Amino acid sequence: MRVLLFGKNGQVGWELQRALSYFGEVIALDSDSQNYCGDFLNPEGIHQTILDLKPDVIVNAAAYTAVDQAETDQQTAMTVNADTVGVIAKAAHEVSALLVHYSTDYVFDGSGQTPWQETDAVAPLNVYGQTKLQGEELIRQYCPKHLIFRTSWVFASRGKNFAGTMLKLAKERETLSIVADQHGAPTSAELLADCTALAVRHCFYNKYGSDSQHGSDNPDCYGLYHLVAKGETTWFDYAKYVFDVARASGIELAVKDVTPVATSEFPVPAPRPGNSRLNTSHFEKTFHLTLPDWQLGVSRMLAETLGSTS
Ligand SMILES: NC(=O)c1ccc[n+]([C@@H]2O[C@H](COP(=O)([O-])OP(=O)(O)OC[C@H]3O[C@@H](n4cnc5c(N)ncnc54)[C@H](OP(=O)(O)O)[C@@H]3O)[C@@H](O)[C@H]2O)c1
Repeated sequence: MRVLLFGKNGQVGWELQRALSYFGEVIALDSDSQNYCGDFLNPEGIHQTILDLKPDVIVNAAAYTAVDQAETDQQTAMTVNADTVGVIAKAAHEVSALLVHYSTDYVFDGSGQTPWQETDAVAPLNVYGQTKLQGEELIRQYCPKHLIFRTSWVFASRGKNFAGTMLKLAKERETLSIVADQHGAPTSAELLADCTALAVRHCFYNKYGSDSQHGSDNPDCYGLYHLVAKGETTWFDYAKYVFDVARASGIELAVKDVTPVATSEFPVPAPRPGNSRLNTSHFEKTFHLTLPDWQLGVSRMLAETLGSTS
């Protein structure tokens, strides 16, 4: 089976390089790739890449993820998160590939306290959310053979993450104020990549046991899913959890007072939703999986990174 991966060096893309490797041939691209175009600011090049490679599966982990910057750089965000995604969807349909894509809780307005279901009304609060929603809609329009995973609060050991930033601050300062009125589930890139591989496998379940034609035997699986770790927290409680794990591991922290504050006390260009909870029942039922608690991924990431931050 041939898999084409876009955005190979992002948090999720990096983990996907590992998780998708079991499918056989994985061609992983980023915006600088030389042999094939992986630059989403060059939609014609992306289209040609797909026609040339004729993959069985396309996994798109590339995105414009600078949420605040998107408010003033709308055109680039729209090109990367929507227009080029539409080009990929059309090309995927042309070559009969399964298209896997990631979206976000930011498609919702963040109201209420109930975890959002896939069927709930969308109303993004910021430009990033609008562009991601537009990307979803183009995929639905042009490529019925798709898996779209809406996720939230993604972290990875590689690169910068919330836990690392909080630990750095907690070593330097005695007091910290952390937002306590946004609710969601920190979700590891590792979990997303593993679940993606299992879901793709499910879509192709009978196919590659019997013959090697292009196509998929499980069209009932196609569609939109919410995919996050189990449980919920706030940035405030997430940070406190990180501090507890760090102290239990023998890391000395200067911080003495951690104060919960409202989102309004940290004004940022892009409004953030208060309720980022996502209901994952549809994903778990369809793919026969039980998602782990968010603490599992965070503890694993801390175990891997604490040594280097101490
Ligand atoms: N991070 C979160 O908290 C979060 C939450 C909800 C949903 N999501 C979604 O999850 C998916 C993966 O996110 P992530 O956290 O892995 O994002 P990430 O770490 O920011 O990675 C995004 C990747 O996209 C690439 N990219 C950006 N502009 C590009 C362009 N013009 N052409 C080609 N590649 C380009 C980046 O490459 P360069 O660095 O080389 O530009 C980077 O490798 C995205 O669809 C995102 O919207 C993320």
